Amino acid sequence: MPATLKNGNAGRVTATRAAHRAIKALRAAHGRPVMFVQSGGCCDGSDPMCFPGGEFALGDGDMMLGVLDGGTFHIDADLYEALGRPRLVLDVEEGTPGGFSLAAGDGLRFVTRIEEPAESRLPAYSPVEELIMKAAVVTHLGKPLEIQELPVPEPGPGQVLVRMEASGLCHTDIHAAHGDWPVKPQPPFIPGHEGVGPVQAVGEGVSADLVGKRVAIPWLGSSCGTCRHCVSGWETLCESQVNSGYSVDGCYAEYAVADAGAVVPVPEGVSSFDAAPLTCAGVTTYKAIKVAHVVPAERVAVFGVGGLGHLAVQYARLVGGFVTAVDLEPDKLGLAHKLGADQIVNARTHDPVEEIKKAGGADVAIVLAASPKAFEQAYRSLNRGGRLVMVGLPADNASINVPIFETVLSGISVIGSIVGTRQDLAEVFALHAAGRTQVIAEPRRLDQVNESFDEVLDGRAEARLVFEF
Ligand SMILES: NC(=O)c1ccc[n+]([C@@H]2O[C@H](COP(=O)([O-])OP(=O)(O)OC[C@H]3O[C@@H](n4cnc5c(N)ncnc54)[C@H](O)[C@@H]3O)[C@@H](O)[C@H]2O)c1
Ligand SMILES: [Zn+2]
Ligand SMILES: [Zn+2]
Repeated sequence: MPATLKNGNAGRVTATRAAHRAIKALRAAHGRPVMFVQSGGCCDGSDPMCFPGGEFALGDGDMMLGVLDGGTFHIDADLYEALGRPRLVLDVEEGTPGGFSLAAGDGLRFVTRIEEPAESRLPAYSPVEELIMKAAVVTHLGKPLEIQELPVPEPGPGQVLVRMEASGLCHTDIHAAHGDWPVKPQPPFIPGHEGVGPVQAVGEGVSADLVGKRVAIPWLGSSCGTCRHCVSGWETLCESQVNSGYSVDGCYAEYAVADAGAVVPVPEGVSSFDAAPLTCAGVTTYKAIKVAHVVPAERVAVFGVGGLGHLAVQYARLVGGFVTAVDLEPDKLGLAHKLGADQIVNARTHDPVEEIKKAGGADVAIVLAASPKAFEQAYRSLNRGGRLVMVGLPADNASINVPIFETVLSGISVIGSIVGTRQDLAEVFALHAAGRTQVIAEPRRLDQVNESFDEVLDGRAEARLVFEF
């Protein structure tokens, strides 16, 4: 592919109003966005191939020119170069499409035209603003989210546009929408930081080779890349970071833009549905186990076996730990048991400190419940040399009592752990592709977002909920 074509192609194709109507009708009829491919001859006045998305395998030389009503338009790169890289307009006219392409309805076929210089020949074409997406938007902190139709964002320099296939609901999104924490997000914003799907378009400076590749958009939306944290493999501590679905719009939408350097490729062996929860719940608990330096035969107590916890149990076992799972919901404890927890404790009916001490005490306690009480209990369940890993984020800036004398004499460590790096996420995906972990998740539609928040808050979700598109 000629180098000059690699960047900034998004938006180089538009559609007339009649073509937009036809594309939307086809999308409704097939339940999928429509894909266009212009692969031979001169495209001015000829018809592109047209399929319901996903039915056509693109060749290496097919580059994407833009997004039309959620579908994509591709053209052979050599042909595009030969034409002088014009802006194209998709229209409809009477006739039958070539090959096995879809018709545009009512005896019409799609035709591609070169926009310039023939304004007089062309009907008015729709501006980019007509490309709309559904998104769940926090309009006011603490109020239900609104489903809105918004313009599909254009990827800016260094960014990619991702078409969401799956987007996980992390408890953090609920904290965000409620404004629970000391640093609050500014409405209106789109939450979500477990977004997975193919790259649809790239902005300036980003290789077009990324188009079509599946990627995950994590919490770490971008980091400076040059500070001491960034250059030492701790970009999650960068002071100039932005956070997906918090300080910038996130993944509760049909499309999202993200920093090309922050997204992580999803390997073939991992479905988008599974990749979504791994993108935060997975990487966060994987990192928590890493920073705790768990070694085989140590006891790891996991407080809170929800979205994060069901994966924490599995990573603790992967490194050889004995696992105690603590929760308030019998169903969650049942799941933890199925996933290999050696001991389960219902903190509503039993004192977890006593139960864990009976089993020999915890060498590591990882707290994933958004409840200060669970942190206190976790601290008190530790053995000498124990490590308390704080991951859950209760509202405000809650604190616990850490008695100095006991902490010193018992050699206890208190560790804060925030998500994981891109490398950690790549490792999480590799483990999953190799069959070492199981994601427990249930699909939801984006318009069920408010009920889904309630399900998580009431402890009714089995583990993770994932919006599918
Ligand atoms: N540090 C990080 O990087 C990071 C990353 C992601 C999420 N989080 C935070 O982690 C927390 C958990 O997120 P999630 O998506 O897994 O939420 P979740 O709601 O799916 O899971 C929380 C679990 O804790 C249980 N629980 C509640 N109170 C408890 C108690 N007193 N004792 C024992 N269990 C209790 C609930 O029943 C539930 O199963 C949230 O506060 C979230 O913001 C932190
Ligand atoms: Zn999260
Ligand atoms: Zn940095």
